[in-house]
Amino acid sequence: MVEDKWLDSIPNPCYVMEEKLLRRNLSLIRSIMDRTEVEFILAFKAFALWKTFPVFREYIGHTTASSLYEARLAFEEFGSRAHVYSPAYQEGEFDEILKCASHVTFNSFSQYNRFIETVSNYNKVSDEKISCGIRINPEHSEIETELYNPCAPGSRFGVLQSQMPDVLPEGIDGLHCHCHCENDSYALEATLKVIDEKFGKWLTKVNWLNLGGGHLVTRADYDVEHLISILKAFKQKYPNLRIILEPGSAFAWQTGPLVAKVVDIVENYGIQTAILNVSFTCHMPDCLEMPYQPAVRCAETLDADACKQPDAVARHIYRLGGNSCLSGDYMGSWQFDHELQIGEKIIFEDMIHYTTVKTNMFNGIHHPSIAFLRENGDILVLRNYKYEDYRDRMC
Ligand SMILES: Cc1ncc(COP(=O)(O)O)c(C=O)c1O
Repeated sequence: MVEDKWLDSIPNPCYVMEEKLLRRNLSLIRSIMDRTEVEFILAFKAFALWKTFPVFREYIGHTTASSLYEARLAFEEFGSRAHVYSPAYQEGEFDEILKCASHVTFNSFSQYNRFIETVSNYNKVSDEKISCGIRINPEHSEIETELYNPCAPGSRFGVLQSQMPDVLPEGIDGLHCHCHCENDSYALEATLKVIDEKFGKWLTKVNWLNLGGGHLVTRADYDVEHLISILKAFKQKYPNLRIILEPGSAFAWQTGPLVAKVVDIVENYGIQTAILNVSFTCHMPDCLEMPYQPAVRCAETLDADACKQPDAVARHIYRLGGNSCLSGDYMGSWQFDHELQIGEKIIFEDMIHYTTVKTNMFNGIHHPSIAFLRENGDILVLRNYKYEDYRDRMC
């Protein structure tokens, strides 16, 4: 955990990723890979702070990309070709994607028909052959939040069992399936059962199966031994398959906070809001989108309405408010053990995965810096943002 002694030496606001916590996650993932011969690759959509990639490279060899830019990041900064899946490739980008890819998964047979010839022409002249797959949709979901459910009726993702041809078309070497989000191994077990029942006949004909992301193997209560046993059993049933898992969150899960500070404290009808130098909508967008209330260090998370109680002010119960003009840019409630002071640090825990890739510069608000706390205690400030970063996004 970033200790107080370090907090004064970094810019504020700042995301701080901690090498020690990252290595703890990576070691666990590596040990699962070694015991199962299943490959774990990093999903950039959840984490892409490329200056930390040398640490990842000590444990894993590959990454997954969902766009041309992520594929380029894989090739140029991670140093290996990406497993690429995009809901819809476009002509103008596809050739460049191929130069950065080892695997390309199509979302539909119409995309396959459109691009397979380009891939086979590429493979005829390139030493690095690209393996193609098709995304399947098992219509089985372990995700309750609709926003994150790729298998809901009407979903745009993947081919249904009823839409599969009897024989897979030429050049399809693998199947890809993503239907998890922060799930446990028992959800994967249920999903594998459905995949087996619905797609078993095609699984015997391909060389790889990518089981997508959403496997939160680094969460403290995750049953790793159960995961290992179900992966081994599936591999035993389909020895022809190379199995790949592409989580994102699991790699960066609980690897560091967003450090902010109180800029003002206002009161309205007895509700106290501490306005911060960060914003939920700009710098922690998942809190509003999911929604979920993040943990704040040294504060107790209470029911959102707790700040409306008559004795809330006396009990140091606050809403925390962002510094954007969006009326809903606040969350609450948190109880502190003292009256908050202007200038005081507020530390939001676990703000690395997804958060650092989803930030924006709405309202021109200063973007938090990004720092890496090395195991030896050195702090590397990887990036400070300036006015020019905002200006250059705006044209
Ligand atoms: C196709 C695909 N792969 C991998 C992931 C990564 O999932 P997570 O970060 O939850 O592990 C996602 C997340 O949406 C995804 O859509």
